[in-house]
Amino acid sequence: MSRQDLTLVFLKPGVMERGLVGTILSRFEAKGLKIVGLKLLRMSGEEAREFYSVHRGKTFFEDLVETVSRKDMVAAVLRGREVVRVVREMIGVTDPVEAAPGTIRGDFGLDITDNLIHASDSRESFEAEVSILFPELDLSSWSG
Ligand code: CMP
Repeated sequence: MSRQDLTLVFLKPGVMERGLVGTILSRFEAKGLKIVGLKLLRMSGEEAREFYSVHRGKTFFEDLVETVSRKDMVAAVLRGREVVRVVREMIGVTDPVEAAPGTIRGDFGLDITDNLIHASDSRESFEAEVSILFPELDLSSWSG
C-alpha cells in the first residue's frame, strides 16, 4: 500500500448530535480500512470557508459554512486500497434523499447540507483538506 491510499472524512455536527459516530466509523473499520488519524474538533468559520473554498459563491455556501462550524465534529484520516473511491462509494451521493440504501447517507440522512459526512474526492483534495484539519500530520513520513 502506498501513501496515495489515504483519505480524509469528517462527520458533520448532526452525527455527533444523533450519537452515530461509532456506527459510522465502524462501517469503515468493518470494510478493512484503517483509522490512522482521529480527532474531535470544532472548525472556525474561517477554516470552514477555506476548507470549502471550491464552493465559494454557490447559493448553499454560507449555510454550509454555518452548519459545519457551529458545533463539534469528528475528523479522521483513513487508509486502505483505493480508499478515496471506496469511501465515496460507501457514503453515497451528496443528497441523502437520492443516496442508495446501504450507503451512509442513504441509510441515515435526509438533509443535503448536514448530510452526515464529508470525504475527499481526490488525492489533491485530500492533501488540501488534511493540511487544514490535521496540520501536524507529516505525509512525507508515510511509506510508499
Ligand atoms: P460535502 O461532501 O461536504 O461537499 C460540499 C457540501 O455542500 C455537500 O457535502 C453538502 O453538505 C453541501 N451542499 C448543500 N447544498 C448542496 C447542493 N445543492 N449541491 C451540492 N452540495 C450541497
